[in-house]
Amino acid sequence: QKMKRIVQPLLRWFQRNARDLPWRHHPTPYRVWISEIMLQQTRVEAVKGYFERFLKAAPDIPSLAALPEERLLKLWEGLGYYSRARNLQKAAKVAVEKYGGRLPASYPELLTLPGIGPYTAGAIASIAFHLPVPAVDGNVLRVWMRLTADSADISDPTVKRCVEAGVQAILPEEHSGDFNQAMMELGATVCVPNAPPKCESCPLAELCAAHTAGGEQQYPVKKPK
Ligand code: ADE
Ligand code: SF4
Repeated sequence: QKMKRIVQPLLRWFQRNARDLPWRHHPTPYRVWISEIMLQQTRVEAVKGYFERFLKAAPDIPSLAALPEERLLKLWEGLGYYSRARNLQKAAKVAVEKYGGRLPASYPELLTLPGIGPYTAGAIASIAFHLPVPAVDGNVLRVWMRLTADSADISDPTVKRCVEAGVQAILPEEHSGDFNQAMMELGATVCVPNAPPKCESCPLAELCAAHTAGGEQQYPVKKPK
């Protein structure tokens, strides 16, 4: 597996360059879950304040489950996509009824909860429960397609499944959460979308097929549906 070579340099880079974000301090399943849901459609800088406020109002799963609806929607005001807040509360209620007020510590069980799809389940499983599960979002997808100079169309859902399999195959068992976050972080801060990627400060530049071929801007390929 050629891509295994990215693991150590990426983990070392992440140790030195990880942004100091509130949910990284005590990455409990609850904190990881709330942050990942907020980050789905909202920028990191905007999420920071909402995250702290939300955790004060609902510090754990039982208190989220018990929050009056108008309070919940008020806390979510500004983040938009209110279905995310409603699903959070629905899932909190299931967690109280079925799992003793905790999130279940397995990928397939996490996937059954409202609002938790493959990416979020993978993020919680790896970052909070240290399970060897990939977490492939748009950032990770872009980074992977560039690293491998893969011109497959990323709007094709089977491509995402291939990337998940590729990540799964190289995921370091003991550091799966750090590896997944390092890939996201590289995509958010170095291997950025739209603007040209900052290959000159990328820890993986020598291992990157798109960069060594001088064509990083050609990836990812995304055909309109
Ligand atoms: N975007 C979404 N989740 C993230 C995480 N855990 N780290 C960095 N960027 C993210
Ligand atoms: Fe992205 Fe450039 Fe790094 Fe390749 S070398 S992963 S294109 S930032």
